[in-house]
Amino acid sequence: MTTIPLSPSSFHVSDKIASSVYEGLMSSPKWLPSWLFYDAAGSRLFDQITQIPEYYVTRTERSILTAHAAEIVSRAAGENSLRLVELGAGSADKTRLLLSAAVNRQDTVFYEPMDVSASALVEAQIRIENEIPGVLVCPRVQDYTQDIELDATLPSERRLVLYIGSSIGNFEPGESLMLLERVRAALDPGDCLLLGVDLVKDESVLHTAYDDAAGVTAAFNRNVLVRLNRELDADFRPETFAHRAVWNSADSRMEMHLVSNIKQTVWLPAIDVRVNFEAGESIHTENSYKYRKGCAEALLQKAGFAPEITWTDENEWFAVCLARAV
Ligand code: AVI
Repeated sequence: MTTIPLSPSSFHVSDKIASSVYEGLMSSPKWLPSWLFYDAAGSRLFDQITQIPEYYVTRTERSILTAHAAEIVSRAAGENSLRLVELGAGSADKTRLLLSAAVNRQDTVFYEPMDVSASALVEAQIRIENEIPGVLVCPRVQDYTQDIELDATLPSERRLVLYIGSSIGNFEPGESLMLLERVRAALDPGDCLLLGVDLVKDESVLHTAYDDAAGVTAAFNRNVLVRLNRELDADFRPETFAHRAVWNSADSRMEMHLVSNIKQTVWLPAIDVRVNFEAGESIHTENSYKYRKGCAEALLQKAGFAPEITWTDENEWFAVCLARAV
C-alpha cells in the first residue's frame, strides 16, 4: 500500500493525537506514543499500578525520599529559602515529604507544580494547601516537554525542581537530554534539580513489575486502544491484543507491546486509514529506560548540572540524584 502523509489540516480530531497515531500505525514496526496512555481512565490505572506489589518503583523512591527529605531540602537551600517547582502535578505523598521538610525550615514555601492538565493542578493545589499549612501553591498550566518558564526568585531564594517518579525514563535518550537542558536553561546558577531514576536490576523483577499478576498493567496498556476507539472512532477489539512486557538489555529499557492475537484489519475513520495486522504483529507502546550506575549523573552533567549526591535504596533498585545548576 502506498501511503501519503496527510497534512495536519486534513484531520478533524486533535492534531497531535491524529498525526502521531497516523505516523505510528503506518510505520513498520508499528508504534504509539506512550503519552497516549494518560486519559482519565489511564491516569486512574496508572495510580493503581503505583500501588501493586510488583511495581517497586513508587514505594522504593518513596522510601528514599522518606529517609532523606530533610537533607535534600537543606542541601538544596544552603543559607537561602527554598521554592519548590515540580514537573508534573505532584505525585501526592512523595511531593508531600519534600514540602513538609521545607516547611520545617521556613514559614512559607512556594510550590509551583507544572502540568498540561488544569484539573490535575487544581486537585493538587486543594490537596496540598489543605494538608500542609505554610505551602502556597502557584500552579502553572504548561507542557514542560515543550517549554519551561518559571517565576523569578527573590534575591535570597533558590529553586529546587522535582522531576521524580522515573518519568525521565519514558523519554528517548536524546529527548531526555533536551528536557534536562531545557530545565537548566530555566534555572539560575545555584538552583537544584532532584531527579528520580529507575536502575537496571534483575530481569525477573523488571518483568513482573511491568506484567503484574492482577493484570493492571495489561489493562493500562490496552486502554490506549479504548482511547483510540473513542477519540478516533476506531474499531480496535482490545481483547484481541495481548499485553507483552520485554526487557531490552542492549538498549537498557523495559518495552511494552500490544500483540495482535489474530490477522485483522482495524479501521480508523477519523484519520481515514485501515491498518492491517498479521497474527503476532505488535504495536510498541512504551519504553521505560533503566539507568546503569553513574549514567544519570553523566546525563545531568551533560545538561549543565553538577551532580552533588545520589541516594539509593538497600537493593540499589532506584536512585534519587541531587544536582546543581552551574
Ligand atoms: C510513568 N512511568 C514512569 C511509568 C514507568 O514505569 O515507566 C509508566 C508505566 N508503564 C507501565 N507501568 C508503569
